[in-house]
Amino acid sequence: GSEELDARIRSAKERLGKDLVILGHHYQRDDVIKFADFRGDSLRLARIGSEQKEAKYIIFCGVHFMAETADTLAQDEQLVILPDLRAGCSMADMADIEEVEEAWEVLQEEFGDTIIPVTYVNSTAAIKAFVGRHGGTTCTSSNAHLVLEWAFKQKKRILFLPDQHLGRNTAYKMGIPLEQMVIWNPQSGQFEENKGSLQDTRMILWKGHCSVHQKFTPEQIHRIRKQDPEMKVIVHPECSFEVVQLADQAGSTDYIIKTIEAAPPGSKWAIGTEVNLVHRLAEEHPEQKIVLLSTTMCPCLTMNRIDRPHLLWALESILEGRPIHRIEVDEETKKWSKVALDRMLSLK
Ligand code: 13P
Ligand code: SF4
Repeated sequence: GSEELDARIRSAKERLGKDLVILGHHYQRDDVIKFADFRGDSLRLARIGSEQKEAKYIIFCGVHFMAETADTLAQDEQLVILPDLRAGCSMADMADIEEVEEAWEVLQEEFGDTIIPVTYVNSTAAIKAFVGRHGGTTCTSSNAHLVLEWAFKQKKRILFLPDQHLGRNTAYKMGIPLEQMVIWNPQSGQFEENKGSLQDTRMILWKGHCSVHQKFTPEQIHRIRKQDPEMKVIVHPECSFEVVQLADQAGSTDYIIKTIEAAPPGSKWAIGTEVNLVHRLAEEHPEQKIVLLSTTMCPCLTMNRIDRPHLLWALESILEGRPIHRIEVDEETKKWSKVALDRMLSLK
Protein backbone atom coordinates (compact mmCIF):
# COMPACT_ATOMS: atom_id res chain seq x y z
CA GLY A 1 0.00 0.00 0.00
CA SER A 2 0.84 3.67 -0.24
CA GLU A 3 1.80 4.09 3.42
CA GLU A 4 4.01 1.03 3.34
CA LEU A 5 5.85 2.46 0.33
CA ASP A 6 6.43 5.75 2.17
CA ALA A 7 7.64 3.89 5.24
CA ARG A 8 10.11 1.78 3.24
CA ILE A 9 11.49 4.88 1.46
CA ARG A 10 11.88 6.70 4.79
CA SER A 11 13.59 3.76 6.41
CA ALA A 12 16.02 3.27 3.49
CA LYS A 13 16.82 6.99 3.58
CA GLU A 14 17.50 6.82 7.32
CA ARG A 15 19.78 3.83 6.96
CA LEU A 16 21.84 5.63 4.32
CA GLY A 17 22.10 8.75 6.48
CA LYS A 18 24.80 11.21 5.44
CA ASP A 19 25.94 8.93 2.61
CA LEU A 20 22.91 10.01 0.61
CA VAL A 21 21.47 13.24 -0.75
CA ILE A 22 18.20 13.36 -2.69
CA LEU A 23 17.74 16.32 -5.05
CA GLY A 24 14.28 17.13 -6.43
CA HIS A 25 13.27 19.45 -9.29
CA HIS A 26 10.16 21.58 -8.73
CA TYR A 27 8.30 19.71 -11.49
CA GLN A 28 8.40 16.42 -9.59
CA ARG A 29 5.19 14.96 -8.26
CA ASP A 30 4.22 15.75 -4.65
CA ASP A 31 4.63 12.18 -3.44
CA VAL A 32 8.26 12.17 -4.64
CA ILE A 33 9.38 15.74 -3.89
CA LYS A 34 8.49 15.26 -0.22
CA PHE A 35 11.52 12.97 0.08
CA ALA A 36 13.97 15.47 -1.43
CA ASP A 37 16.63 16.90 0.89
CA PHE A 38 16.85 19.88 -1.47
CA ARG A 39 14.29 21.24 -3.91
CA GLY A 40 15.09 23.65 -6.66
CA ASP A 41 15.07 24.74 -10.25
CA SER A 42 17.85 23.52 -12.47
CA LEU A 43 20.32 26.28 -11.49
CA ARG A 44 19.85 25.82 -7.75
CA LEU A 45 20.12 22.05 -8.02
CA ALA A 46 23.31 22.28 -10.08
CA ARG A 47 24.84 24.53 -7.42
CA ILE A 48 23.63 22.46 -4.48
CA GLY A 49 24.68 19.20 -6.13
CA SER A 50 28.22 20.51 -6.54
CA GLU A 51 28.36 21.44 -2.84
CA GLN A 52 27.49 17.94 -1.57
CA LYS A 53 31.01 16.82 -0.80
CA GLU A 54 30.10 14.33 1.96
CA ALA A 55 27.45 12.23 0.24
CA LYS A 56 28.58 9.05 -1.51
CA TYR A 57 25.31 8.87 -3.44
CA ILE A 58 23.27 11.59 -5.09
CA ILE A 59 19.81 10.48 -6.17
CA PHE A 60 18.48 12.94 -8.72
CA CYS A 61 14.70 13.19 -8.92
CA GLY A 62 14.59 15.12 -12.16
CA VAL A 63 15.57 14.32 -15.73
CA HIS A 64 18.61 12.82 -17.45
CA PHE A 65 20.46 16.05 -18.36
CA MET A 66 20.23 17.24 -14.74
CA ALA A 67 21.75 13.99 -13.49
CA GLU A 68 24.54 14.33 -16.09
CA THR A 69 25.22 17.85 -14.82
CA ALA A 70 25.32 16.55 -11.25
CA ASP A 71 27.80 13.83 -12.27
CA THR A 72 29.94 16.38 -14.13
CA LEU A 73 30.17 18.59 -11.06
CA ALA A 74 30.44 15.72 -8.52
CA GLN A 75 33.59 14.42 -6.82
CA ASP A 76 35.20 11.42 -8.55
CA GLU A 77 34.05 8.91 -5.95
CA GLN A 78 30.44 10.12 -5.83
CA LEU A 79 27.71 8.17 -7.61
CA VAL A 80 24.78 9.93 -9.30
CA ILE A 81 21.59 7.93 -9.73
CA LEU A 82 18.50 8.67 -11.83
CA PRO A 83 15.70 6.46 -10.44
CA ASP A 84 14.20 5.83 -13.89
CA LEU A 85 16.53 5.93 -16.88
CA ARG A 86 13.60 6.74 -19.16
CA ALA A 87 13.27 10.16 -17.55
CA GLY A 88 14.73 12.13 -20.45
CA CYS A 89 13.79 15.53 -21.86
CA SER A 90 12.28 15.93 -25.31
CA MET A 91 13.91 19.34 -25.70
CA ALA A 92 17.40 18.02 -24.92
CA ASP A 93 16.79 15.28 -27.50
CA MET A 94 16.24 17.95 -30.17
CA ALA A 95 19.94 18.82 -30.33
CA ASP A 96 22.11 15.95 -31.38
CA ILE A 97 25.89 16.44 -31.13
CA GLU A 98 26.49 15.49 -34.77
CA GLU A 99 23.88 17.97 -35.97
CA VAL A 100 25.51 20.64 -33.82
CA GLU A 101 28.97 19.92 -35.25
CA GLU A 102 27.54 20.17 -38.77
CA ALA A 103 25.72 23.41 -38.01
CA TRP A 104 28.89 24.86 -36.49
CA GLU A 105 30.79 24.27 -39.73
CA VAL A 106 28.19 26.16 -41.74
CA LEU A 107 28.13 28.96 -39.19
CA GLN A 108 31.93 29.25 -39.24
CA GLU A 109 31.82 29.66 -43.01
CA GLU A 110 29.06 32.23 -42.80
CA PHE A 111 30.22 34.24 -39.82
CA GLY A 112 33.89 33.33 -39.23
CA ASP A 113 35.15 34.01 -35.72
CA THR A 114 32.27 36.27 -34.68
CA ILE A 115 30.11 33.63 -33.01
CA ILE A 116 30.01 31.94 -29.60
CA PRO A 117 27.86 28.93 -28.65
CA VAL A 118 25.62 29.02 -25.56
CA THR A 119 23.53 26.04 -24.54
CA TYR A 120 20.59 25.92 -22.18
CA VAL A 121 21.43 23.33 -19.50
CA ASN A 122 18.54 21.31 -20.94
CA SER A 123 20.97 19.57 -23.29
CA THR A 124 23.19 16.50 -23.27
CA ALA A 125 26.64 16.50 -21.67
CA ALA A 126 28.09 16.10 -25.19
CA ILE A 127 26.56 19.43 -26.24
CA LYS A 128 27.79 21.12 -23.07
CA ALA A 129 31.27 19.76 -23.84
CA PHE A 130 31.04 21.14 -27.40
CA VAL A 131 30.17 24.55 -26.03
CA GLY A 132 32.98 24.37 -23.45
CA ARG A 133 35.51 23.47 -26.15
CA HIS A 134 34.46 26.43 -28.29
CA GLY A 135 34.74 29.12 -25.63
CA GLY A 136 31.04 29.18 -24.77
CA THR A 137 28.98 28.39 -21.72
CA THR A 138 25.66 27.09 -20.44
CA CYS A 139 22.68 28.95 -19.01
CA THR A 140 19.47 28.16 -17.19
CA SER A 141 16.19 30.03 -17.42
CA SER A 142 17.13 31.89 -14.19
CA ASN A 143 20.39 33.32 -15.49
CA ALA A 144 19.89 33.43 -19.28
CA HIS A 145 19.99 37.25 -19.30
CA LEU A 146 23.28 37.41 -17.39
CA VAL A 147 24.83 34.69 -19.55
CA LEU A 148 23.81 36.31 -22.84
CA GLU A 149 25.24 39.64 -21.66
CA TRP A 150 28.52 37.88 -20.95
CA ALA A 151 28.45 36.08 -24.32
CA PHE A 152 27.81 39.31 -26.26
CA LYS A 153 30.91 40.77 -24.59
CA GLN A 154 32.91 37.92 -26.15
CA LYS A 155 31.45 37.88 -29.67
CA LYS A 156 28.97 39.69 -31.89
CA ARG A 157 26.68 36.65 -32.33
CA ILE A 158 25.42 33.73 -30.30
CA LEU A 159 24.41 30.26 -31.41
CA PHE A 160 21.76 29.46 -28.81
CA LEU A 161 20.60 25.88 -28.28
CA PRO A 162 18.41 23.90 -28.00
CA ASP A 163 15.42 26.11 -26.98
CA GLN A 164 14.54 28.75 -29.56
CA HIS A 165 11.97 30.31 -27.21
CA LEU A 166 14.25 30.94 -24.23
CA GLY A 167 16.84 32.34 -26.65
CA ARG A 168 14.39 34.62 -28.47
CA ASN A 169 12.54 35.80 -25.37
CA THR A 170 15.73 36.62 -23.49
CA ALA A 171 17.47 38.37 -26.39
CA TYR A 172 14.33 40.41 -27.20
CA LYS A 173 14.12 41.58 -23.60
CA MET A 174 17.74 42.71 -23.90
CA GLY A 175 16.77 44.93 -26.84
CA ILE A 176 17.74 42.72 -29.78
CA PRO A 177 15.06 43.06 -32.47
CA LEU A 178 13.51 39.99 -34.11
CA GLU A 179 15.07 41.05 -37.43
CA GLN A 180 18.47 40.26 -35.91
CA MET A 181 17.46 36.71 -35.01
CA VAL A 182 17.36 33.71 -37.26
CA ILE A 183 16.38 30.07 -36.76
CA TRP A 184 18.72 27.23 -37.61
CA ASN A 185 16.79 24.13 -38.70
CA PRO A 186 18.98 21.07 -38.04
CA GLN A 187 16.74 18.85 -40.16
CA SER A 188 17.09 20.86 -43.36
CA GLY A 189 20.50 22.33 -42.53
CA GLN A 190 19.08 25.78 -43.48
CA PHE A 191 18.34 29.12 -41.88
CA GLU A 192 14.65 29.94 -41.40
CA GLU A 193 12.59 33.04 -40.64
CA ASN A 194 15.36 35.28 -41.73
CA LYS A 195 13.65 38.68 -41.56
CA GLY A 196 16.75 40.83 -41.97
CA SER A 197 20.19 40.52 -43.49
CA LEU A 198 22.17 37.48 -42.35
CA GLN A 199 25.22 39.67 -41.72
CA ASP A 200 23.29 41.71 -39.13
CA THR A 201 22.20 38.59 -37.23
CA ARG A 202 23.03 38.54 -33.51
CA MET A 203 21.13 35.40 -32.41
CA ILE A 204 21.09 32.07 -34.22
CA LEU A 205 18.32 30.06 -32.57
CA TRP A 206 18.38 26.28 -32.71
CA LYS A 207 14.98 24.97 -33.77
CA GLY A 208 14.09 23.19 -30.52
CA HIS A 209 11.33 23.66 -27.97
CA CYS A 210 9.78 22.26 -24.81
CA SER A 211 6.66 20.28 -25.63
CA VAL A 212 5.17 21.14 -22.23
CA HIS A 213 5.58 24.91 -22.39
CA GLN A 214 4.87 25.24 -26.09
CA LYS A 215 1.29 24.11 -25.40
CA PHE A 216 0.37 27.46 -23.86
CA THR A 217 -1.29 29.80 -26.37
CA PRO A 218 -2.37 33.46 -26.74
CA GLU A 219 -6.02 32.26 -26.92
CA GLN A 220 -5.74 30.81 -23.42
CA ILE A 221 -4.56 34.19 -22.14
CA HIS A 222 -7.42 36.05 -23.89
CA ARG A 223 -9.95 33.59 -22.48
CA ILE A 224 -8.71 33.80 -18.92
CA ARG A 225 -8.70 37.63 -19.00
CA LYS A 226 -12.20 37.65 -20.40
CA GLN A 227 -13.37 35.37 -17.59
CA ASP A 228 -11.67 37.46 -14.92
CA PRO A 229 -9.92 40.73 -15.79
CA GLU A 230 -8.15 40.75 -12.41
CA MET A 231 -6.25 37.60 -13.28
CA LYS A 232 -2.49 38.14 -13.77
CA VAL A 233 -0.76 35.84 -16.20
CA ILE A 234 2.74 34.59 -15.39
CA VAL A 235 4.60 32.20 -17.72
CA HIS A 236 7.94 30.44 -18.14
CA PRO A 237 10.26 31.79 -20.89
CA GLU A 238 10.18 28.37 -22.61
CA CYS A 239 6.71 29.49 -23.81
CA SER A 240 6.40 31.01 -27.27
CA PHE A 241 7.26 34.65 -28.01
CA GLU A 242 3.57 35.57 -28.50
CA VAL A 243 2.61 34.06 -25.13
CA VAL A 244 5.47 35.78 -23.30
CA GLN A 245 4.62 39.14 -24.93
CA LEU A 246 0.98 38.88 -23.88
CA ALA A 247 1.66 37.68 -20.33
CA ASP A 248 1.95 40.13 -17.43
CA GLN A 249 5.17 38.53 -16.30
CA ALA A 250 7.60 35.88 -17.51
CA GLY A 251 10.41 34.15 -15.67
CA SER A 252 12.08 30.94 -14.63
CA THR A 253 10.59 28.39 -12.28
CA ASP A 254 12.39 30.07 -9.42
CA TYR A 255 11.11 33.52 -10.46
CA ILE A 256 7.52 32.25 -10.65
CA ILE A 257 7.73 30.74 -7.16
CA LYS A 258 9.27 33.90 -5.64
CA THR A 259 6.66 36.11 -7.33
CA ILE A 260 3.80 34.08 -5.89
CA GLU A 261 5.42 33.95 -2.45
CA ALA A 262 5.74 37.75 -2.43
CA ALA A 263 2.21 38.46 -3.71
CA PRO A 264 -0.43 39.82 -1.29
CA PRO A 265 -3.46 37.73 -0.23
CA GLY A 266 -6.27 37.93 -2.74
CA SER A 267 -3.90 37.97 -5.75
CA LYS A 268 -5.13 36.03 -8.76
CA TRP A 269 -2.76 34.13 -11.03
CA ALA A 270 -2.97 32.03 -14.15
CA ILE A 271 0.38 30.25 -14.42
CA GLY A 272 1.88 28.85 -17.62
CA THR A 273 4.31 26.18 -16.51
CA GLU A 274 4.44 22.52 -15.49
CA VAL A 275 1.24 21.40 -13.77
CA ASN A 276 2.77 19.70 -10.71
CA LEU A 277 4.36 22.99 -9.71
CA VAL A 278 1.20 25.00 -10.38
CA HIS A 279 -0.92 22.65 -8.25
CA ARG A 280 1.63 22.72 -5.44
CA LEU A 281 1.69 26.54 -5.46
CA ALA A 282 -2.12 26.58 -5.36
CA GLU A 283 -2.09 24.28 -2.33
CA GLU A 284 0.65 26.20 -0.53
CA HIS A 285 -1.11 29.55 -1.11
CA PRO A 286 -4.79 29.17 -0.32
CA GLU A 287 -4.88 32.93 0.39
CA GLN A 288 -4.47 33.52 -3.38
CA LYS A 289 -6.34 32.25 -6.38
CA ILE A 290 -3.97 30.18 -8.51
CA VAL A 291 -4.94 28.29 -11.65
CA LEU A 292 -3.17 26.62 -14.55
CA LEU A 293 -3.24 28.81 -17.66
CA SER A 294 -4.55 26.01 -19.86
CA THR A 295 -7.67 23.97 -19.21
CA THR A 296 -5.92 20.78 -20.26
CA MET A 297 -3.28 19.28 -18.00
CA CYS A 298 0.30 19.62 -19.18
CA PRO A 299 2.58 17.45 -17.11
CA CYS A 300 6.17 16.87 -18.13
CA LEU A 301 5.72 13.18 -18.79
CA THR A 302 9.37 12.31 -18.44
CA MET A 303 9.75 14.13 -15.10
CA ASN A 304 6.72 12.19 -13.96
CA ARG A 305 8.41 8.88 -14.67
CA ILE A 306 10.22 9.30 -11.37
CA ASP A 307 7.73 7.75 -8.97
CA ARG A 308 7.96 6.20 -5.52
CA PRO A 309 8.51 2.59 -6.67
CA HIS A 310 11.50 3.72 -8.75
CA LEU A 311 12.86 5.84 -5.89
CA LEU A 312 12.58 2.89 -3.51
CA TRP A 313 14.18 0.56 -6.05
CA ALA A 314 17.15 2.93 -6.35
CA LEU A 315 17.49 3.27 -2.56
CA GLU A 316 17.32 -0.46 -1.90
CA SER A 317 19.82 -1.18 -4.65
CA ILE A 318 22.32 1.06 -2.84
CA LEU A 319 21.65 -0.72 0.45
CA GLU A 320 22.22 -4.06 -1.28
CA GLY A 321 25.58 -2.81 -2.54
CA ARG A 322 24.55 -2.94 -6.23
CA PRO A 323 23.38 0.58 -7.12
CA ILE A 324 21.26 0.75 -10.27
CA HIS A 325 20.71 3.47 -12.87
CA ARG A 326 23.99 5.24 -12.39
CA ILE A 327 24.53 8.24 -14.69
CA GLU A 328 28.17 8.49 -15.65
CA VAL A 329 29.56 11.02 -18.09
CA ASP A 330 32.81 9.86 -19.75
CA GLU A 331 36.01 11.65 -18.70
CA GLU A 332 36.67 13.64 -21.90
CA THR A 333 33.07 14.87 -22.12
CA LYS A 334 33.09 15.64 -18.42
CA LYS A 335 36.25 17.73 -18.69
CA TRP A 336 34.83 20.12 -21.31
CA SER A 337 31.28 20.09 -20.04
CA LYS A 338 32.68 21.17 -16.67
CA VAL A 339 34.53 24.03 -18.35
CA ALA A 340 31.19 25.24 -19.78
CA LEU A 341 29.30 24.79 -16.50
CA ASP A 342 32.03 26.40 -14.38
CA ARG A 343 32.00 29.46 -16.67
CA MET A 344 28.29 29.79 -15.99
CA LEU A 345 28.56 29.18 -12.25
CA SER A 346 31.28 31.83 -11.91
CA LEU A 347 29.09 34.56 -13.45
CA LYS A 348 27.38 36.73 -10.84
P1 13P B 1 14.17 25.72 -14.79
O1 13P B 1 14.27 24.72 -13.69
O2 13P B 1 15.54 26.29 -15.12
O3 13P B 1 13.15 26.79 -14.60
O4 13P B 1 13.78 24.93 -16.12
C1 13P B 1 12.52 24.48 -16.36
C2 13P B 1 12.56 23.19 -17.03
O5 13P B 1 11.95 22.98 -18.04
C3 13P B 1 13.35 22.15 -16.45
O6 13P B 1 13.44 21.17 -17.34
FE1 SF4 C 1 12.32 19.00 -20.85
FE2 SF4 C 1 10.21 20.63 -21.00
FE3 SF4 C 1 10.17 18.52 -19.37
FE4 SF4 C 1 11.72 20.62 -18.82
S1 SF4 C 1 9.50 20.59 -18.86
S2 SF4 C 1 12.30 18.45 -18.68
S3 SF4 C 1 12.33 21.24 -20.88
S4 SF4 C 1 10.31 18.47 -21.62
